[in-house]
Amino acid sequence: MTFADLWAELLPIGRDAATGGYQRFSWGDADLAARDWFTGQARVRDLDVHTDRNGNLWAWWGPPGPDAVVTGSHLDSVPDGGAFDGPLGIVSALAAVDRLRARGARPVRPVALAVFVEEEGARFGVPCLGSRLLTGAVPAARARDLRDADGVTWAAAMAAAGLDPDAIGADDALLGQAGAFVELHVEQGRALVHRDAPVGVASAIWPHGRWRLDFTGEANHAGTTQLTDRRDPMLTFANTVLSARKKARLAGALATIGKVVVEPGATNAIPSAVRAWLDARAPDEQTLDATTEEILRAAAERAARDGTAVRGTCESYTPAVEFASGLRDRISGRLGGVPVLPTGAGHDAAVLAARVPTAMLFVRNPTGVSHAPGEHASLADCLAGVDALADVLEDLACQP
Ligand code: GLV
Ligand code: MN
Ligand code: MN
Repeated sequence: MTFADLWAELLPIGRDAATGGYQRFSWGDADLAARDWFTGQARVRDLDVHTDRNGNLWAWWGPPGPDAVVTGSHLDSVPDGGAFDGPLGIVSALAAVDRLRARGARPVRPVALAVFVEEEGARFGVPCLGSRLLTGAVPAARARDLRDADGVTWAAAMAAAGLDPDAIGADDALLGQAGAFVELHVEQGRALVHRDAPVGVASAIWPHGRWRLDFTGEANHAGTTQLTDRRDPMLTFANTVLSARKKARLAGALATIGKVVVEPGATNAIPSAVRAWLDARAPDEQTLDATTEEILRAAAERAARDGTAVRGTCESYTPAVEFASGLRDRISGRLGGVPVLPTGAGHDAAVLAARVPTAMLFVRNPTGVSHAPGEHASLADCLAGVDALADVLEDLACQP
């Protein structure tokens, strides 16, 4: 089966016919169907598929063992996400195994293809939850209790998918088998377009985090409550959106509020609460920390003026990642000196890098659009990505 055949099979799963975007949320029907598809494709290739204690899938080429070369990504999406963010790394991994076999290459170290669960944090709020659980970066008890928008816990959703939530947690034995991790991903920007290159290697990931902001006030009638008598959390929220943007701009950081829930959500009532999620990123941790502190302080000051209250809670934090230079230089050298670039996007690779020598390959995205239906990579560039991944796996796993 060619890369294009594999891609065409996966493409319809979880696709929204109206928008062309994807709704693949962890443990939902589309996510389970995509996982089943991966399992089937791995078995066709005689790879041995295991589900780890945290729900991540591992397909082994050769018996599991030490010094394994692991490649993979994720199958879940953001709401109305693009086709490539995550799946490109999974399909390319399967295609790279085919490519290596066609070349007659045989691993002398185990190769594993990994599918990490809840990378986007779209359903339960904490991105890279599967890899964070694996490394112990998120405690099992906290993960079990995370809730989706309907109040369903991670534990309940996992159990409904037939897995045991009591078993989740750090898995040093499995992690200890990984000698290297290489994630191929669609580029989420246009640096490779500017460099006129189909494939690049990551140098670093900006530190980033998510903060939940709970603005609370007093519900009241929209037609009878004088403006001066209101305690309107929407006002405090709106002001915070504008100030976050300004503070990020002044600091050279990024701040986004892309998710908001208004309670109770009536057209003709002042809301009792507005819950919003701030995503903040910066070139270094000091700037990130200072910027988020300033945003939260400004929100609190505004709340005092509006007669409302605001509480900020950090839900996830990923420190700056500088990928291991030895692996990165070996890979860029093996690929003939491809561009080496940093990114502001988060990945399981950023979590695993704390424990395993890790690298990323990026595939050119002509528009740079990501986390939206317009995300794209040409077939020719995807095939260049598969070639690059196969070369890297051959170098890392097939040389004595
Ligand atoms: C994941 O794609 C992220 O950067 O949030
Ligand atoms: Mn993403
Ligand atoms: Mn991704």
